Amino acid sequence: MSLKKIVVLFSGEGTNLENIIKKLHKKSFGLDNYEIVAGITNKKEANGIQICKRYDIPFYIIEHKNYPSREEFDTKLVETINSLNPHLSVLAGFMRILTPIFTKNIKAINLHPSLLPLFRGKNAIEKSFHSDMKVGGVSVHYVSDELDGGEIILQECFKKEENETLQSFTKKVKSLEYKLLPQAIIKILGE
Ligand code: GAR
Repeated sequence: MSLKKIVVLFSGEGTNLENIIKKLHKKSFGLDNYEIVAGITNKKEANGIQICKRYDIPFYIIEHKNYPSREEFDTKLVETINSLNPHLSVLAGFMRILTPIFTKNIKAINLHPSLLPLFRGKNAIEKSFHSDMKVGGVSVHYVSDELDGGEIILQECFKKEENETLQSFTKKVKSLEYKLLPQAIIKILGE
């Protein structure tokens, strides 16, 4: 048995954080035991903090607004993550553009609510819903210097129905996220 340590970064609701905790925390996959060793957020009002508290997961609040540059913020993130020595860092709704200080030093994956390379950046669900495309989707990819641009690990799509509303579309995105992100983590850590 070996212990696979995971750090989760988030900025908001934290529903994917909670999903990962429920599906992976202190669970065994193959010969490995998985543990979410910490949550990290850049927003002190992020609901994900309440989720960390509820599941007794240590958390760190590193507010980007307290750092004069992206590089200095990323340096603090890298120091914090490295002190935890995780096998993988998971960006689950972590809404920051990262510099090479982060991307060259941390093995990380990101969840994005569209079929990348389409609809990068913010409001991807809305952009994808309002587009002419007949499908929506979710991607999990390695984090690189390019925004929402690293190598894709898992990606799936679903049909956009004729009578689809933004609400029903968002629901489909979320349930696909809850399926794909844990799968991607297990895929990487099991390799
Ligand atoms: C998720 O939909 C995730 O795909 C998105 O933020 C949401 C976080 O939700 N991430 C991005 O748009 C990254 N560019 P959650 O806080 O409820 O997990």
